[in-house]
Amino acid sequence: MTDDTNNPAAHGLGRNAANYGDREFALYLRRSFAASMGYSKDALTRPVVGIVDTASDFNNCHRSVPDLIEAVKRGVMLSGGLPMAFPTISLCEPFLTPCSMHYRNLMALDTEAMVSAQPMDSVVLVGGCDKTVPAQLMAAVSADVPAVMLVTGPMSANRYQGERLAACTDCRRYWARYRSGDVSEARINEVENALAVTAGTCGVMGTASTMACLVATLGFMPLEGASAPAVHADRLRIAEEAGRLAMGLKVRPSEILTIEAVENAMRVLLALGGSTNALVHLAAIAGRAGLRVDLKRLDQMSDETPVLVDLKPTGEGYMEDFHFAGGMRALLWEIRDLLHLETKDVYGRTLAERIGDGTHFVDRTYIKAREKPVSPVGGLVALFGSLAPDGAILKRSAATESLFEHEATCMVFDSVEDLAERIDRDDLDVTADTIMILKNAGPLSAAGMPEAGYLPIPKKLARAGVKDMVRMSDCRMSGTAFGTVVLHIAPEAQAGGPLAFAETGDRIRLSVKKRSLDLLVDEATLAARRAKWSARATPKRGWDRLVHEQVLQAPDGADLRFLRAEGV
Ligand code: FES
Ligand code: MG
Repeated sequence: MTDDTNNPAAHGLGRNAANYGDREFALYLRRSFAASMGYSKDALTRPVVGIVDTASDFNNCHRSVPDLIEAVKRGVMLSGGLPMAFPTISLCEPFLTPCSMHYRNLMALDTEAMVSAQPMDSVVLVGGCDKTVPAQLMAAVSADVPAVMLVTGPMSANRYQGERLAACTDCRRYWARYRSGDVSEARINEVENALAVTAGTCGVMGTASTMACLVATLGFMPLEGASAPAVHADRLRIAEEAGRLAMGLKVRPSEILTIEAVENAMRVLLALGGSTNALVHLAAIAGRAGLRVDLKRLDQMSDETPVLVDLKPTGEGYMEDFHFAGGMRALLWEIRDLLHLETKDVYGRTLAERIGDGTHFVDRTYIKAREKPVSPVGGLVALFGSLAPDGAILKRSAATESLFEHEATCMVFDSVEDLAERIDRDDLDVTADTIMILKNAGPLSAAGMPEAGYLPIPKKLARAGVKDMVRMSDCRMSGTAFGTVVLHIAPEAQAGGPLAFAETGDRIRLSVKKRSLDLLVDEATLAARRAKWSARATPKRGWDRLVHEQVLQAPDGADLRFLRAEGV
């Protein structure tokens, strides 16, 4: 994008004029159409701040977006600019088929195109739910227009019969208890209305919260912006500030998204005990800037980075607790020796300046000191081996330690449908030791890499009191889930990875100590199975076809090949 500072027509509404062969006429037409909306000449010569509006009746996590946009507009106007909001696709986890991940890249493409095509000097991206934040940042990096991120913020916890509830981890916990017969039908129905009761994103350290923390670390929003509750007045003040900040913003995403910034985000992800999904999203965001998330480097960092945040799904608290305990500033201060402190944010401030001098308040219930961590090592590890030549991920902070070194025979489910059909059969041939495998659920599959990696404990074992088993797949799991679950196996089964050739009864060996994941089947047997294998047919048309032709594997962020920066 060119930026001609001496030419007023290259700013505000004069930016990116349509080409009718007569540039002056194109601008004249634009001004007269803008005037038809009642803007004064004064308004139309101001710098324009675009605001991405992702409010949708299909997105409960974004129900406060209209209020946030009002506040952003206030901030822009108080600073002398003209705010212009415009819609893009909005994605909310439970409302999309086959799954929200299948559409993350579509939202990124839509957002990039609209930010690039429409005349704006900078943009405020208002998102929140899991896939929206990475989609918007991928778009901002590719469009390379000065950008500020604003998230809707976490929901507040509800009170229910003496306990607190705030969506997903509690949804899963209650559902697991219902499946095991521990919670009655009447009670599960009552809890349905008590699990999520305010605006905002899931109230635990799930994917939405993790991504918000990473985006703040990367420098695309103020540190408080990561965690202020959706319904708190601070959230509106942060929105107003986003508007002020976007006015006159010159720093481009490509200037702050450096490999050091990406490494900082990886550190924070580990210290948070954050969502596994964030690794896929971070790889996709980095890929837009020509950078890679190196899984071997993740393993190294994981051994040096303690988990310091005690939130569900791995710990006890909720996002509001993290916020009021000191939030990102307190966490970053604690791990400052592990960070690249010279990285810059959109204000041009270094990370050292943003963290401050250590005089902040911190509540040690939720943000631990280095001497007393939740865990001395990081929340996530990458595994490699004959079942996952290009890597797989385990969230060890949410796993059962006694299952870290585990060798057993496996039960293979060929698809999400096969899993749904057989998992609760009384004759399913499994014990608590069995390794359960789900395949054909990666980015290339018809399922589109859903959050199905958290395979339910078979009903007959759940009733017998089994709480965790080793489970593995080429798909993802919700950032709010827990268990000994190996995810993102690459290459996936549909890409012809070794996972495609695993069969029920094969022996599998998992070693967290050695960071290995192996399929213990001899090469001749695998070759025979490979000879009989074929991938599914390419979908005939539309988005599904484009995804199938272009989607990359999990270590590359499951982005579309033609949307990555060249040379990654
Ligand atoms: Fe939107 Fe959980 S469903 S953040
Ligand atoms: Mg989620």
